[in-house]
Amino acid sequence: MLDWWLVLQWILIGFLILLALSFLVRIIRHYYHFPIPAFFTQLIDNPVRRRLVQRPDLLVERMQLKPGMIVVEIGPGKGNYTKAVAEKILPRGKVYAIDIQESVIERLKKRIKKEGITNIVPKIDNAYKLSFADESVDRVFAMACLPEIPEPVKVLRECHRILKPDGLVCLCEMFPDPDYPRRKTEKRWAAEAGFELRQEFGNWFIYQLNFGKRSG
Ligand SMILES: C[S@@+](CC[C@H](N)C(=O)[O-])C[C@H]1O[C@@H](n2cnc3c(N)ncnc32)[C@H](O)[C@@H]1O
Repeated sequence: MLDWWLVLQWILIGFLILLALSFLVRIIRHYYHFPIPAFFTQLIDNPVRRRLVQRPDLLVERMQLKPGMIVVEIGPGKGNYTKAVAEKILPRGKVYAIDIQESVIERLKKRIKKEGITNIVPKIDNAYKLSFADESVDRVFAMACLPEIPEPVKVLRECHRILKPDGLVCLCEMFPDPDYPRRKTEKRWAAEAGFELRQEFGNWFIYQLNFGKRSG
């Protein structure tokens, strides 16, 4: 018979290990900055997260997507959120999945080829200097990614430049990501880059913030 008390203990131990690791990475990154290696994004994007923590269908619903939209994702990881967004903007919409690491982009290219996905464009690009024209994009989104980049306000200013006047930048964070910021921190970054809050979803430890360009 299954010993539920033992199962509970192991879940608790697992959670404490995760917390300790997250804290350790946070300290290391305070002194030495490095992008999350591609293999690690495999661990972050797991079925437990997609079912219980950050559901791709909720992201899609909250992004207010329409067929034909042009979307940029910063730091696509394994591409599961990318894929959910790409399906929603068919038939003519496109998701440009950008990352600074070649290994992430190559892995995504292989995946979309294998799965026959035609409207995801993986691209090496730097979020500090995005290769998109001014006001050419409907949505930018980043899952557990913006706070990892040392100058988030600089990235948000680039998002502001490429977004159409009615575009949205959607930022999703979760605890215990080692780079997890509080909502008010992310709101301050966005305000500094010329955005205003349009919608917020979730709770203290898992949230999504949608920002639009500040009017006036
Ligand atoms: C934590 S991972 C993304 C995880 C993924 N979004 C997920 O939810 O599973 C952050 C990614 O941001 C990328 N990154 C870091 N700095 C960047 C920059 N300046 N421009 C573009 N991508 C960057 C890293 O290479 C890394 O793949």
